[in-house]
Amino acid sequence: MTDPTRDNTRLTEEERKRVFEGFNAKRNNATHDLWEAQKYRSTLNSKQTTGLFDEWVGAGSGPYENDVKTLGYQGPQLTAQYLAKYIPKNRDQSKVLDVGAGSGLSGTELKRVGFTNVDWLDPSENSIPPAKKTNAYSRFINEYLTAKPLDVAPDTYDAITCVGAFFEGCLPIECFTEMIRIVKPGGYIVMSISCTSLETCKEYNGRLEPRILELAEAKEWELVEKTKEPEYLINVPAIFFVLRVLRSG
Ligand SMILES: C[S@@+](CC[C@H](N)C(=O)[O-])C[C@H]1O[C@@H](n2cnc3c(N)ncnc32)[C@H](O)[C@@H]1O
Repeated sequence: MTDPTRDNTRLTEEERKRVFEGFNAKRNNATHDLWEAQKYRSTLNSKQTTGLFDEWVGAGSGPYENDVKTLGYQGPQLTAQYLAKYIPKNRDQSKVLDVGAGSGLSGTELKRVGFTNVDWLDPSENSIPPAKKTNAYSRFINEYLTAKPLDVAPDTYDAITCVGAFFEGCLPIECFTEMIRIVKPGGYIVMSISCTSLETCKEYNGRLEPRILELAEAKEWELVEKTKEPEYLINVPAIFFVLRVLRSG
């Protein structure tokens, strides 16, 4: 599955140890060594971050899903509930893009509430096999989202969901303009970020919300809801943002 010409996608043994060691040691305590591991990620490039998820998911045999279950991860369920609140009817006819979809936990929850026309977007190739098994996704877009246009026509989607992907080395905030381009005017974007990532990641701290508001000021989208969810992970809150796109791509 992995393209051998894509170099620099794997973590070195040293990096692997730094990212996973503390986490492995306390996995069963559901303490958030994840944030410890996150500190080291700031030294990784985007391909290495992708390599990290490739390894964590391990084409379905890795510990990702068990780990996030141990941490009490509610992100996918909450995201599906938020989108369902804003799209109360004809969900099977709404075309949704799940950004940072990974192994498919979010797609499974979207399907559960009736969204059956969902595309997958993620740079992690190893996440494709478990995501396919969920039968929640139609198209698979194996890309790392930035501001660079994807091979997707303007105004394609009724909604974008994005959960768990505002993390060190993951989605850059410049990707908002590409999200807006591919969502239809009137369509929704549901995205969330843990309060820990908001405080600790340079990319987001003091930058993410001002950028959201700047794009609202420019009438690219409107902020229709901002809610703090107390238990995104055990004892870790997250902010959920719901945006309604105003501009045609
Ligand atoms: C913690 S996982 C979350 C996966 C899934 N949404 C869930 O809730 O289980 C974060 C995912 O974001 C993906 N990701 C990181 N940077 C990305 C980017 N720039 N564009 C798209 N996906 C990205 C990673 O490859 C990884 O699969």
